[in-house]
Amino acid sequence: MEEKRYSTKEFAQALGISKNHLLKLESEGKVPPAQRLKRGKIEHRYYTVQDILHYRNILGMPPILEERRVQLFLNFKGGTGKSTISASYAYGIAELGINVLAIDLDAQEHMSKCLGFEPKRGGPSIYDVLIDDKDINEVILPTKMATLDIIPGNLRLSVIEGRLPNKEMREFLLTSALKRIKCKDYKVIVIDSLPNITLLNKNAILAADDLLIPVLPDFLSFDGLGLLVEELGRLEKAYALYTNRQGGLLDHIYVFINQYRSNEILSKESKGALEELYAKYLCETYIPYNTKIAQSTAAGKPIFQYNRSCTAAKHIRALIEEVLGLTAGKKQKHQRRPKVE
Ligand SMILES: Nc1ncnc2c1ncn2[C@@H]1O[C@H](COP(=O)(O)OP(=O)(O)OP(=O)(O)O)[C@@H](O)[C@H]1O
Ligand SMILES: [Mg+2]
Repeated sequence: MEEKRYSTKEFAQALGISKNHLLKLESEGKVPPAQRLKRGKIEHRYYTVQDILHYRNILGMPPILEERRVQLFLNFKGGTGKSTISASYAYGIAELGINVLAIDLDAQEHMSKCLGFEPKRGGPSIYDVLIDDKDINEVILPTKMATLDIIPGNLRLSVIEGRLPNKEMREFLLTSALKRIKCKDYKVIVIDSLPNITLLNKNAILAADDLLIPVLPDFLSFDGLGLLVEELGRLEKAYALYTNRQGGLLDHIYVFINQYRSNEILSKESKGALEELYAKYLCETYIPYNTKIAQSTAAGKPIFQYNRSCTAAKHIRALIEEVLGLTAGKKQKHQRRPKVE
């Protein structure tokens, strides 16, 4: 992953103002001028992600998100795009100038790798916090994106299930660890999980405010989704009283279709069935099947760095806007907390 540099247009977009407005503010001296990079005889204007926070401050803009959201990518069916999409989702939010922490719960370190982060052997992971009682602030590592930090995956996570049962309050270890984060005011914590029902995943569900569930548009995926909703209902009954959340375990459940092929009947039929069965959870945004995603995974880059103008990048941006309620009309749909039934 490289440090992100914003063009004038991108920067104005990230601030939510027009390019002309930004240039006017600059010429009137109301905001600092763009940074410059000389290549040959040409001078290029650019901005960094820190500039977003700085300019928003100068312009008296309110924070983009008021409250912290812990968002877990989960599905009991494997290979639906949890790691790939969660990595680009986390990066895409960080690009908006929002402080994001990505947590990789997978021993295979897929989310870390999708962010171009090659975890070191014996490097830190959430294992150290949950099992060895290490301070969570000490396992958070910076990335080249100033607004994106990471707790990477690590091979040790593969044995965590054997160790978790011996701990006190074993289901709530992640919840309490996240409460102890002091090093930065993260507005979004994005967690990538494994496709199974484990104690680690239970920790993640109990720590989460929102679930993001990628489903493939095939009928096999419905089994996984049905199982997940059933399990959530069970957890809700068992644990809702132990969390201090009003009204239940989770604030939102966002189901979104991944790898949608608009020219395939199966995709269209599955989408129709999902709209019927899971209407209250289903996002309007879907992610199309796009080889650029698989290529970006192989290149270890979030899609916004690999090819920010491809359709998949646009759809992931739209997903971020829909889920975080950054676009007016779409916010409505997800405002009420869907009850798990
Ligand atoms: N929209 C897409 N278009 C094309 N390929 C995709 C898309 N989404 C994901 N993929 C590819 O599908 C594969 C599986 O994705 P990924 O590893 O993110 O799934 P996962 O849910 O994390 O899997 P696991 O359950 O094993 O953790 C990857 O090779 C990824 O590049
Ligand atoms: Mg994965």
